[in-house]
Amino acid sequence: MSDISALERDLLASIGSANDEAALEAIRVSALGKKGSVSELLKTLGGMSPDERKTQGPVINALRDKVASAISDKKIALADAALDARLATERVDVTLPIRPEPQGTIHPVSQVLDEVTAIFGDLGFAIAEGPDIEFDDYNFTKLNIPPDHPARQMHDTFYMAKQKDGSSHVLRTHTSPVQVRTMLSQKPPIRIISPGRTYRVDSDATHSPMFHQYEGLVVDEGSTLANLKWVLEEFYKAFFEVDSVELRARPSFFPFTEPSVEWDLRCDRSVPGKITFGTGNDWLELAGSGMVNPRVLDMCGIDSKKYQGFAFGGGLDRLAMLKYGIPDIRPFFESDLRWLRHYGFSAFDLPTLDGGLSR
Ligand code: DAH
Repeated sequence: MSDISALERDLLASIGSANDEAALEAIRVSALGKKGSVSELLKTLGGMSPDERKTQGPVINALRDKVASAISDKKIALADAALDARLATERVDVTLPIRPEPQGTIHPVSQVLDEVTAIFGDLGFAIAEGPDIEFDDYNFTKLNIPPDHPARQMHDTFYMAKQKDGSSHVLRTHTSPVQVRTMLSQKPPIRIISPGRTYRVDSDATHSPMFHQYEGLVVDEGSTLANLKWVLEEFYKAFFEVDSVELRARPSFFPFTEPSVEWDLRCDRSVPGKITFGTGNDWLELAGSGMVNPRVLDMCGIDSKKYQGFAFGGGLDRLAMLKYGIPDIRPFFESDLRWLRHYGFSAFDLPTLDGGLSR
């Protein structure tokens, strides 16, 4: 009898001090579970004489009922306390002003620029910049396009009035003058990528007088066309977020590279309005490139007997149009909020290679 009341006291005390549901459940199992202390007591009733059972039966059963109801009361108390605690932490101050929804989005060109720099940064390229208003000398002459050279006709240039000292400026027609600036100011090994604004007198659905290009330049003792091809493959794979790509080389001409190569990327355009890279029977022209012309290296103060380099360049707006299915370049620069909301990106999703470029 005294054993039973001691057990009752112990059990009720530990139920009273249980701090959470797990502790309470452990007590329930230890008392009322199959092998629990109270269950074991109940089992002893079977071996008792009828008289003993008459007195012990009600005592043990009362113990079981008391313990069971103490546990269920405690369970409710714990749940109430948990809810109170949660309500206290989730209290909303309705008098606070509401936080407005973010209004702005990241422009597709900015998004693509961030993606391109993330990829080339991962490949070990540094970012280089140059001014939009560029010396004629850097935009053309040092890239092996002297005045009156017919290749100047390939660029519909915005010329600026000549300076008093005879120098003249243009709105840069490509990002290639950043190659010149980099070589004039750095020693090999050079590995840079230069995204930026460029300008040409041109305007239709796929051309804008202001557009964006990216330029790549690698100068070292052993740079080859094979390295160039690998870099472009890695870039397109990462950029279009596909496991493999196929590049086709076409001989071309640029005054600043020799030999010059244009690259086409295998793609599938069999579904109208959709383009997929890495498979298919179509080719898409994507980049101009080549081995840096030794004359350019020499004009930029780099010993062409010792060093060779490769360069490549392409359109950023074009990459954005292809990747994000934007059919017309003109609205890129019209600041139409409906367009920006539709094609823009969240400011909180910074493109990274491990975190995902476009997700
Ligand atoms: N600058 C060229 C253009 O605007 C693109 C280009 C071609 C860049 C070949 C390069 C290159 O670096 O090697 O059309």
